[in-house]
Amino acid sequence: MLIKRPADIPASEITPEHIYLRRRELMAGAGLFAAGALLPTGLGASEARASLEAKPATPALAAKGFYTDEKKTPFEDVARYNNFYEFGTDKGDPAKYADALTVDPWSVVVEGEVARPGTYPLEDLLKGIDLEERIYRLRCVEAWSMVIPWIGIPLHKLLARLEPTSKAKYIEFTTLYRPAEMRGQRSRFSTIDWPYVEGLRMDEAMNPLTLMATGLYGRELPKQNGAPFRLVVPWKYGFKSIKSIVKIRLTERQPRTTWQELAPQEYGFYANVNPNVDHPRWSQKYERRLPNSLFDPNRIKTRMFNGYEEQVAHLYKGMNLRRYY
Ligand code: MTE
Repeated sequence: MLIKRPADIPASEITPEHIYLRRRELMAGAGLFAAGALLPTGLGASEARASLEAKPATPALAAKGFYTDEKKTPFEDVARYNNFYEFGTDKGDPAKYADALTVDPWSVVVEGEVARPGTYPLEDLLKGIDLEERIYRLRCVEAWSMVIPWIGIPLHKLLARLEPTSKAKYIEFTTLYRPAEMRGQRSRFSTIDWPYVEGLRMDEAMNPLTLMATGLYGRELPKQNGAPFRLVVPWKYGFKSIKSIVKIRLTERQPRTTWQELAPQEYGFYANVNPNVDHPRWSQKYERRLPNSLFDPNRIKTRMFNGYEEQVAHLYKGMNLRRYY
């Protein structure tokens, strides 16, 4: 599969890394290094929000799964080859159309089995939790994959703040529903029952690998990657990693998720990466690591739990992974 490179991606979305680093130096000089620092007048909000300071992922963290030395997928590919059906079904659509999305201000409703429900401005939800960099593999069910340096907070730290009750067995996430800005939600051809919903079992949510991302490549999330706040669950197929989240609900029962509702025989609730269980339309034994091309498909073997077996296999001990796909 060729990677589409639409010419009309806004230049503002693709700040070359050296410029970004330079900008970071300047901001450090201005005493602005920490994310969430107060904005001086004269510096636009989007400019000030552009870079994020996070604890870096280092080789010492490889045993935890927080780091890999595999070649990172270039930013240009991460931000131009996307699945975000709210903006269209073509891989280039999100980069083309997500600019219409307003991400500031952004608030998140927290409800259900939780001691601290409410509507939180995103800044308040994140305040005081240190950002971390995590270099993860992302494996899509369509059998392509990337390596992405994310920035975010571990979900378990956020949950500690929200205090789930003892009845909370699952967590449900909902994406923004705003057809005026999300053209895919207005489409007459869409088969998805908006808004997009995903969920995890509580122990999956609490696993140290599970990240709420606010950035990648050292800067804020591009809108096409799910700005300003998305889930990243690296041992599951990419569709679990829901974007642009506006609601978090703690529940006693397993949530109904978008893809499972749409095609239950194809997409399960668990969706753990598993080379031994094929999707009805795709073998899952191999994947194409991006960047690739027709002449160099960069085909590699898919690993159990996307290579995170050591960190997560215990969560599924005794479970029939063919049945609970
Ligand atoms: N979240 C929402 N709200 N809508 C989507 O269409 N697509 C999913 C997931 N999250 C999707 C979504 C799929 S199928 C994948 S593979 C990943 O996002 C892709 O993330 P990326 O575009 O940042 O690589």
